Amino acid sequence: MAKTKSTVFFCKSCGFESTKWLGQCPGCREWNTFTEAPSVKAGAARGLGQSARHAGIAGISGAGSEAVRLEEIDMTHQPRMDAGSTELNRVLGGGIVPGSLILVGGDPGIGKSTLLLQTCRQLGAAGRSVLYISGEESLAQIRMRADRIGSFTGNLSFYCETNLDIIEEKLSLWKPEVVIIDSIQTMYREEVSAVPGSVSQVRESTAVLLRLAKGLGIAIFIVGHVTKEGTVAGPRILEHMVDTVLYFEGDRMAAYRILRAVKNRFGSTNEIGVFEMGERGLSEVANPSEYMLNGRPEGASGSVVTCTMEGTRPILSEVQALVSRTNFGMPRRTAAGTDFNRVNLLMAVLEKRLGLALGQCDAYVNIAGGMKISEPSIDLAIVMAILSSYQDKIIDSRTMVFGEVGLAGEVRAVSMVQQRVDEAVKLGFTTCILPKVNLARLKKPEGIRLIGISGVGELLRKGN
Ligand code: TYD
Ligand code: MG
Repeated sequence: MAKTKSTVFFCKSCGFESTKWLGQCPGCREWNTFTEAPSVKAGAARGLGQSARHAGIAGISGAGSEAVRLEEIDMTHQPRMDAGSTELNRVLGGGIVPGSLILVGGDPGIGKSTLLLQTCRQLGAAGRSVLYISGEESLAQIRMRADRIGSFTGNLSFYCETNLDIIEEKLSLWKPEVVIIDSIQTMYREEVSAVPGSVSQVRESTAVLLRLAKGLGIAIFIVGHVTKEGTVAGPRILEHMVDTVLYFEGDRMAAYRILRAVKNRFGSTNEIGVFEMGERGLSEVANPSEYMLNGRPEGASGSVVTCTMEGTRPILSEVQALVSRTNFGMPRRTAAGTDFNRVNLLMAVLEKRLGLALGQCDAYVNIAGGMKISEPSIDLAIVMAILSSYQDKIIDSRTMVFGEVGLAGEVRAVSMVQQRVDEAVKLGFTTCILPKVNLARLKKPEGIRLIGISGVGELLRKGN
């Protein structure tokens, strides 16, 4: 192979590669994000290119680089491992796939190390061999965290190392079933002369781990810190290389955390797992709806409960609106937890179709509890919360609302209505306002009154 230039330039934000320095990245349009890094062409070819092609696929099929028939593929590695947590299992699509590379991303301090240490504990108790490799904490610090979480049993080992060449050697020797790398930003390879955490190191390290995971059939969890822009530090490139990308989100001040699958080669990407951070680590929240509705004000106008679907899971949350007369010429509007433009659009619909004088009002819309909802089924709840606050009329606290609102003010059908209504019944709601068109195919459960509406105009007539 012809010798390539010894340095290249990378975009720190999206990983775009160029042979010369650029002011603006053509990949993500960010300014001033290019840094110089040693070329890793030779290493990458061995690490990623060949590993994916040879060691990688060969590791699963066991047939080298020969093409094989589908039924000839060896399935011995396939049964999934129980991660010991219903929430984590769900997000992974039913358990840990041996030989898979899983990235767990999230803000620093959100609880990634805690989550994975707890996973270690569960796997150990189930008789799996696990190796936890930390480049961030000393063994004593890991022990301190472990003591907070509970007792650890089984075949678990802990190891502090950041040199991937040594890690590679040890893994080939020890062959644990699951490995945890905390974090990818601290790992380095000697032959890459960039600092740990730089694009080329992270990229090269992931390539090595990919080769190990596929070649040895080890499931590897990689912790990756997220930068302010919301991407795993620098290299978005990491997301393309791994099998599964999970993000651990939540407000660090609030106790609950959401684990979300962003990419999953072995399952759905819509699933979420909900956890609560407590004194003794993370505990699962089996009923997030109940949790999200905690502390809801009784008898206050502008508060409505809605139901959104997170994958196959219905979650109730509270939509709040505050509408007040503006003191300035220019009304203020904000939306927290939902799309600002959507809120503006819905307010325009209310002005036009119901004749409300919202042009002279400030309006603030908030999804309580810090949830982020982008599903259109939340429209009707936003509309009713705004209306409730505008008219200062209280909506009964045992009423749940969902439906999409169109520009003509029509209330349109949403999916998975049965699950939403069943969830409302489960949590003791007595009335459900939903799109009329959805009523036809719905099996009405006991103990709930269903009110179907077809346009926002009916909200005024029905006295809400
Ligand atoms: P950590 O797992 O270290 O975060 P990350 O690896 O994502 O950087 O989580 C650290 C935070 O969690 C820290 O602020 C302390 C808190 N915490 C608890 O509240 N309870 C606990 O039992 C543990 C272990 C941590
Ligand atoms: Mg950590």
